[in-house]
Amino acid sequence: MIINPPQEIDNFFVKDYQKLYNAALDYPEYFWENIAKELYWFKPWRKVLDWQYPYARWFVGAETNIVYNALDRHLKTPTKNKTALIWEGQDGLVRTFTYFELNEAVSRFANALKSLGIRKGDRVAIYLPRVPEQIISMLACAKIGAIHTVIYSGFSIEAVKNRLIDEQAKIVITTNGYYFRDKLINTKNTIDEAVKEVQTVQNIIVVKRLNIETNMVAGRDLWFDEVCHKADNICSTEIMDSNDPLFILYTSGTTGKPKGIIHGHGGYMVGVYITLKWVFNLQPDDIYWCTADPGWITGHSYIVYSPLINGVTSFFYEGPPDFPDPGRWWSLIEKYKITKYYTTPTAIRSLMRYGDEIPNKYDLSSLKILGSVGEPINPEAWLWFYKIIGKEKCPVMDTWWQTETGMHIITPFPSTPLKPGSASKPFPGIIADIVDEKGQSVSPNTQGYLVIKNCWPAMFLDVYNNPQRYKELYWEKIPNVYFTGDSAKIDEEGYFWIIGRNDDVLKVSGYRFGSAELESALVAHPAVAEAAVIGKPDELKGESIKAFVILKIGVTPTDNLKKELREQMRKLIGPIATPDEIEFVNSLPKTRSGKIMRRVLKAQELGQPLGDTSTLES
Ligand code: PRX
Repeated sequence: MIINPPQEIDNFFVKDYQKLYNAALDYPEYFWENIAKELYWFKPWRKVLDWQYPYARWFVGAETNIVYNALDRHLKTPTKNKTALIWEGQDGLVRTFTYFELNEAVSRFANALKSLGIRKGDRVAIYLPRVPEQIISMLACAKIGAIHTVIYSGFSIEAVKNRLIDEQAKIVITTNGYYFRDKLINTKNTIDEAVKEVQTVQNIIVVKRLNIETNMVAGRDLWFDEVCHKADNICSTEIMDSNDPLFILYTSGTTGKPKGIIHGHGGYMVGVYITLKWVFNLQPDDIYWCTADPGWITGHSYIVYSPLINGVTSFFYEGPPDFPDPGRWWSLIEKYKITKYYTTPTAIRSLMRYGDEIPNKYDLSSLKILGSVGEPINPEAWLWFYKIIGKEKCPVMDTWWQTETGMHIITPFPSTPLKPGSASKPFPGIIADIVDEKGQSVSPNTQGYLVIKNCWPAMFLDVYNNPQRYKELYWEKIPNVYFTGDSAKIDEEGYFWIIGRNDDVLKVSGYRFGSAELESALVAHPAVAEAAVIGKPDELKGESIKAFVILKIGVTPTDNLKKELREQMRKLIGPIATPDEIEFVNSLPKTRSGKIMRRVLKAQELGQPLGDTSTLES
């Protein structure tokens, strides 16, 4: 099925995708350089791209700061007085910031961080829910050259602790609590527990989101508002090398420990700037809403940095789609006259379950372009989104990318014909392909490994503290190309169809987990001898977590124990990691070298052929 673009493509940035793609293919560096020139640099580059396997460095020798482009630059233009951010809390509280006001808030907090001893290169952890201070903190760090690590506020003590230790954070910013649906989440207590074993944390800065009693440790804990109040509202923006690190964001891989993905100022800035602008055809009067959380890459790139660099007005909402009722998000589209709306397949599927009557009650006519990200979107959900939400007039941008890629890699444009369920084609300047294990391109409609065959500006700089892993995981699986970890197909017309991960990474409601990471949380329970975790197809969440558990000798398998194990996962990783199914087993399929064959478990579970079992222990 093909959905053709709307007639009026005259005002689209990308009018002829193929022409643009071909031009970028012929002269990729010239293509990216011209885009980079639309932004501000303290000093220009000597070289657009320096590729020394396996590291790419973009805009070599240039100096900039992403915050200069996100804020400072606008203060000299009418954008200064434009609304940058409209925030609404789950409780209906509204706060707005013009670009001028946001810059002032960021400058104050940047000065506060400096007064607490934070310097260029220091790591600051941000453990906040979706409140304006989450964005302000990220920008304040970047402004002074500190490296931010945003930790998703749904993570529990152990997950937070591991990240703080790995990055050696000096400061943690959190709230005294917030409501998720009707449940009080006490983030401050989590941090108090998590920092007990982290030597490097000197201060905890607390955003007062709720009027509740809060345990503040004298000398260590400070209120966000108080430190800002004392600070000056003018702060110069640190001059950064184009390849200086901007942030570390932890993401799950195939081993037990999440890895710290590092992105830098210059290349990342160019990549996120242009992708959102072109894919969502950003216009000065847009009210843009991305429902993600800056705890994940989508929030970094497309809630915080790109919208601000592009000078648009963003709406930012604290709560989930269906609380207090399943019309909540639709009511916000009506209230704020959202024009560009970027969300996830899981959110779409969960709202679709309530039927068409709920969205039909709201005026959604302001919408112009819709977007989806994070997991494959099934054609049924795509069409529902297109018909019921977009009223068949808003193209759906199914954007494929990753924490590591930093920016959209495979994506449609509003002017290109769409195929529901396909992320379309590579962004100009990018060569993507589907190959076999030897790196040979496969024929159309054949499943293979999705790889990227050249460099793009927002590609990550490294894995924090682990260059070996960077090399092995991404560049050695198939030599000389970037290995995404996804399987996909390309059809006869060059459209990419993403199938899912080909490694032991799960995508549950769009959240990324490593099987090994989930298993180590289970094995940490005293009753558990061994565990294996697989993802099972799930109509709502894309994948659900199923755990196979071998108990220690003498332990009785009971429902109560299953409950305890679920609780264990919630406690160690977070509620989003709660398994849907736990099965007690006596053995697990293993290779002769003792590695659990999750692939075999999954095939058994789904009643599929077991594939190559020659290495299976008999
Ligand atoms: O499997 C792909 C899936 O999400 C993975 C990356 O996850 P993460 O780093 O958390 O970033 C998510 C937000 C960009 C990919 O390897 N994925 C992402 N977008 C899509 C997708 N799968 C299918 N279609 C997409 N549009």
